[in-house]
Amino acid sequence: MIRLKEVDCSDWYACIKLEVTEEQNGISPAPVVYWLEEARLDRRLVPMAIYSDTSLVGFAAYAGEADEQGRHWIMALMIGRGYQRQGYGKAALAELVRLLVTKHGARTIAVGHRTDDTGAGTLFESSGFQEAGGSGDGEIVRSCEAPVTTVGIVRSCEAPVTTVGSHA
Ligand SMILES: CC(C)(COP(=O)(O)OP(=O)(O)OC[C@H]1O[C@@H](n2cnc3c(N)ncnc32)[C@H](O)[C@@H]1OP(=O)(O)O)[C@@H](O)C(=O)NCCC(=O)NCCS
Repeated sequence: MIRLKEVDCSDWYACIKLEVTEEQNGISPAPVVYWLEEARLDRRLVPMAIYSDTSLVGFAAYAGEADEQGRHWIMALMIGRGYQRQGYGKAALAELVRLLVTKHGARTIAVGHRTDDTGAGTLFESSGFQEAGGSGDGEIVRSCEAPVTTVGIVRSCEAPVTTVGSHA
């Protein structure tokens, strides 16, 4: 089971120590320290630590306010290299969607990734994020409409993922 927690003084340092793979270093977005600094200057950006039980497994940052097109952005999602391909990224994405809808009233959620970041592309696509155009600088923009059930329980764009299993 994963848990998202807003980054604070207890875990900011552990967050900046998270590393992606060598290959991803060249294609992933800005490092955690960048997002923490941006969040310090722009309170609309919310930095989140991703935990599995007590282990810090990743980091995310999202915009708590919609842009001019009504989209709430997940600006960053990364899973530490030792924890990848175990379902944490997908589970964290589903949890971010749930949080954006329940806490921030999001209806459309957007993400971006480099065209050569096939791992991120596959993850987002399999989670219901459809291509919504390119930003023109080698980035693909994807978005999803977040459905809400009649009882007010939010589903992810595709299906809820709340339990993380480990890949054999
Ligand atoms: C993208 C990222 C968050 C995925 O995290 P993860 O925990 O490894 O993802 P999951 O284990 O939940 O994978 C879910 C699915 O996504 C796809 N996927 C994830 N990583 C992949 C990779 N490297 N290559 C191909 N497909 C991949 C697979 O379909 C996977 O399902 P499977 O393992 O059953 O085949 C992680 O690779 C990462 O931190 N990358 C660097 C940062 C980045 O690029 N972020 C995205 C842009 S903000």
